[in-house]
Amino acid sequence: MTIAPQRAVVASGLTRRFGDVTALDGVDLEIEFGRVIGLLGHNGAGKTTTVNILTTLLLPTDGRAEVCGHDVVREPAKVRESIALAGQQATLDELLTGRENLVLLGCLLGLSRRDAKARAAELLERFGLADAADRVCGGYSGGMRRRLDLAACLLVPRPFVVLDEPTTGLDPASRIEVWAAVRELVDDGTALLLTTQYLEEADRLADRVVVLAGGRVVAEGTPSAMKDRVGGRRVEAILSDAALVDAARDALVAAGLDAAAEHRLCTVSAPAPRGSLDLEAALEALRGADIEPVEAGLRRPTLDDAFLALAGEQVLDEAVAAS
Ligand SMILES: Nc1ncnc2c1ncn2[C@@H]1O[C@H](COP(=O)(O)OP(=O)(O)OP(=O)(O)O)[C@@H](O)[C@H]1O
Ligand SMILES: [Mg+2]
Repeated sequence: MTIAPQRAVVASGLTRRFGDVTALDGVDLEIEFGRVIGLLGHNGAGKTTTVNILTTLLLPTDGRAEVCGHDVVREPAKVRESIALAGQQATLDELLTGRENLVLLGCLLGLSRRDAKARAAELLERFGLADAADRVCGGYSGGMRRRLDLAACLLVPRPFVVLDEPTTGLDPASRIEVWAAVRELVDDGTALLLTTQYLEEADRLADRVVVLAGGRVVAEGTPSAMKDRVGGRRVEAILSDAALVDAARDALVAAGLDAAAEHRLCTVSAPAPRGSLDLEAALEALRGADIEPVEAGLRRPTLDDAFLALAGEQVLDEAVAAS
């Protein structure tokens, strides 16, 4: 009797060297079904290398990984049956139309021609490609190719889906469409690994974020734990004139806030552990100094702040106590 695996991915000590370059250096990763993991990192951090190993496109130099209960080195065919991948480069037949690409792939994946056609039509509609469906892909824009590639990834349900920078090059409306499709997938119990440079994307979609730097995991946790680690909320006031910045900071300091000035951005800010109470105190202090900010509010650190700080630190074993 085979026991269904609890986790879509269990990887430990994954290492990959290319000559002198160590692309991955002992990465541990677990992904549960029904969860989205966001893999974040600068260019060259090792995201695509991780994806390629988990999808059997590349062998690890060291370490091991199981995907849906199958070892990526010993049982690559079984792994491939369990996954769908939208790689960093779209893989389409340029000479076929969008619809033909999807129908062909659907048939290769085991759908009947009739089902493949129906599924293709549904996905073309969903990704805003219905009007372009019968044009050859060679003439598609970058964003259209990306969308078709994602549609291809969803043709047949698979328990583990990997998207390597799925929304790079997409316009905002298409990004939102992709995000909605991703959420639907996960609601169905699919496990999803998403690499991205868009921190907003990880923040929106990922249950857990893993930050890679130099082939190592430098931090992991929920997006919100990441943000907390970089610091809590801040009050921030944007001023109309750089000449007001010092006076504004002094007024906030006099009111007991630990304010800092950012002259280039015409901004003053201070930690706001008491939330709106600190915001009110700051506004009152500014008013007392005759300064009316253009805009003022509470800001939580963005994942950008967290990511830059964490990737910059390059600290190992500093996992955020998340979840
Ligand atoms: N086939 C290869 N041969 C030699 N070096 C490679 C190869 N593939 C990746 N590398 C190196 O491994 C490191 C990690 O690359 P990887 O493609 O995994 O980064 P990434 O995080 O996906 O970056 P990006 O955001 O640019 O896609 C880089 O230093 C890269 O140059
Ligand atoms: Mg990459």
